[in-house]
Amino acid sequence: MTRSTLPIGVFDSGVGGLTVLHECLISLPAEDFLYLGDSGHFPYGTKSAEELRDRAQVIATGLLERGVKMLVIACNSATAAAGDEIRQLGAEAGVPVVTVVGPEAEIAATISGNGKVGVLATPATVASGAYRRALDSLGRPLTVTEVAAPDLAPIIQQGPTFDQGVLDTVRSYCDPLREAGVDTLILGCTHYPLVAPMLQRMLGRDVSLVTAGHAIAAAIQRELASRDELTTDRIEGDYRFLVTGDVDSFVEAGTRFLQLPLAGRAEKVEL
Ligand code: DGL
Repeated sequence: MTRSTLPIGVFDSGVGGLTVLHECLISLPAEDFLYLGDSGHFPYGTKSAEELRDRAQVIATGLLERGVKMLVIACNSATAAAGDEIRQLGAEAGVPVVTVVGPEAEIAATISGNGKVGVLATPATVASGAYRRALDSLGRPLTVTEVAAPDLAPIIQQGPTFDQGVLDTVRSYCDPLREAGVDTLILGCTHYPLVAPMLQRMLGRDVSLVTAGHAIAAAIQRELASRDELTTDRIEGDYRFLVTGDVDSFVEAGTRFLQLPLAGRAEKVEL
């Protein structure tokens, strides 16, 4: 099997990375994808950097052993804690690694009009300082307001109940961002685009929400093209799922979020 016929491996702690996979399925329809949802170890966002490094290494190794031509870390918490280690692991296997964080920082620094950029992310991502470093490295003076949202990814992962308690919680995350006058908000967790309408309503239409999916899909396309590993001999590829937690609830949530059938494409793995 030549490498270009292998799937692209994508992983997250649960369903959040599906917001990245969604863009990949649109931008790269001919490719095969193997998505690993580590829902048995969800949430990542409240784990220590050391725990996250351990998990990310186990997952990345599991995907590399199954055979992938690229690894996509569709999780900000894992990227922030273990991006360098996974890039190293990929390099040793000759497999390129694409991650979140950098692309969203670049978009935000480019589009912000008033230079006030917000970052809404998990406690692990905020504690890592990854976004602040990425934004600082871009050479534009920015005022950055970071808000850690410990409950938001779990609310989304559990779905689909959005009651007053959820609204109050989400509003409490938006308040400091409104007070800081941000005109651009990085959704620094791949789960958050799934509640973009709620965030947009609370922040107002004038705040630009920045997500990773589109930029990641473009980065994958560029990297595969440069390695001559793009799939070009068919119109649509396949997509399959490995899940470390409950398969049925992953399939139910995933079908709703992707608006594509997942039944029969997901299997349980122990990792
Ligand atoms: N979707 C993940 C992220 O981008 C993590 C959510 C979680 O497991 O807490 O950070």
